[in-house]
Amino acid sequence: MPATNLKIDGDRLWATITETALIGGTPKGGICRLALSDEDRRVRDWLAGTIREAGIDLHIDDMGTMYAVRPGRDMSKAPIAFGSHLDTQPTGGRFDGVLGVLAGLEVMRTLNNAGIETDLPLCLVNWTNEEGARFAPGMIASGVFAGEIGRGWAYERADRDGVRFGGALEGIGYRGAEPAGKRRFSAMIELHIEQGPILEEVGQSIGVVTAAKGMIWSDGRVTGRESHAGTTPMPLRRDALCAFAELALGVERIARGEGLDGVATIGVAEVAPASRNTIPGEVRFTLEMRHADFAALERMDAAADALAAAITKSRSVSISLDRIWRKSPVVFDPTIASAIREAAEGLGYSCREMTSGAGHDACFVASVTPTAMIFVPSRGGISHNEMEFTSSADCEKGANVLLHTILQLAGR
Ligand code: GLV
Ligand code: MN
Ligand code: MN
Repeated sequence: MPATNLKIDGDRLWATITETALIGGTPKGGICRLALSDEDRRVRDWLAGTIREAGIDLHIDDMGTMYAVRPGRDMSKAPIAFGSHLDTQPTGGRFDGVLGVLAGLEVMRTLNNAGIETDLPLCLVNWTNEEGARFAPGMIASGVFAGEIGRGWAYERADRDGVRFGGALEGIGYRGAEPAGKRRFSAMIELHIEQGPILEEVGQSIGVVTAAKGMIWSDGRVTGRESHAGTTPMPLRRDALCAFAELALGVERIARGEGLDGVATIGVAEVAPASRNTIPGEVRFTLEMRHADFAALERMDAAADALAAAITKSRSVSISLDRIWRKSPVVFDPTIASAIREAAEGLGYSCREMTSGAGHDACFVASVTPTAMIFVPSRGGISHNEMEFTSSADCEKGANVLLHTILQLAGR
């Protein structure tokens, strides 16, 4: 049983989700709020104002990550942290990341209204650039926080227009003085939508996330030779796009060969010179591969290299695959996961253990702090899509599990 019957206010949480979805809101009902864009600044300003109105101190680190600290009785102890991210994909939904931050805010509002003081302080976090859609890789700020990504390297990451992360952070006025990683937590819990089909399929409400897939992100380039589309006989061509097509289908095969956990995606492909009567001379592309098992991920990575080498030979093109990021699979802290399970069961919600296919800030934080995650169902398993949807009732359940996990870990 939970320590109290305390519940968050589901209507208030839903109203906050709906209200903030207008910042960067798209005509199809999703959100486009790329990291460090003006939309990101506006939602941060909204969060900062709301936090300060609630009488809670706000701190910002030099990666732009925002920390709202609610004092506890014992300030010698590091806080229990919770949160997620407010940046989105270019055609993002209303819940990915957003739910974790706004439910965390709702937890603080609930505790304030009930006049509850916890033993340990609490800290709501809005991590910068979780998505990696504008500045690759994702989870960059939690990566610097955990000491796994260098701050200087992070600042130099450029978007497709050549704008650097460091400059964009300064530009929106969110480069704080505190060095990222200086702050410590006793534990971290991230509530997130599942972004996959499992909870809905099995008809359960809560996922207790015990592990997350590893991933390898690459920037790739196929270089062939531009030539005339009408005069160049087929056997003499070095068509970069055809070579790329073989590579794309090949990496799909590689991932399919590694069970249901193996996934590979080419999300960006740009053909040059992009003229209908010139044979493509170049394709620049991104490749990302994921697997929950480290050995399988390494196998996929090696197979991609072997495939590129074979296509290079057979089609007289050159192919480069520049690994810009590797993240090993993560196993979350069993004690925090048990606390989540206990909270869910105490509230009478059905739950199951799960592995996350998506990357989350929790994956980096887990290397320096006991961490685990709570999932709630995603309708149709769809995410990174404007149609992404989680019902108000499921958001409410997730936030209640977050509340009671926090109360268990923070003591009251
Ligand atoms: C985060 O959105 C990811 O790509 O897993
Ligand atoms: Mn997310
Ligand atoms: Mn995402």
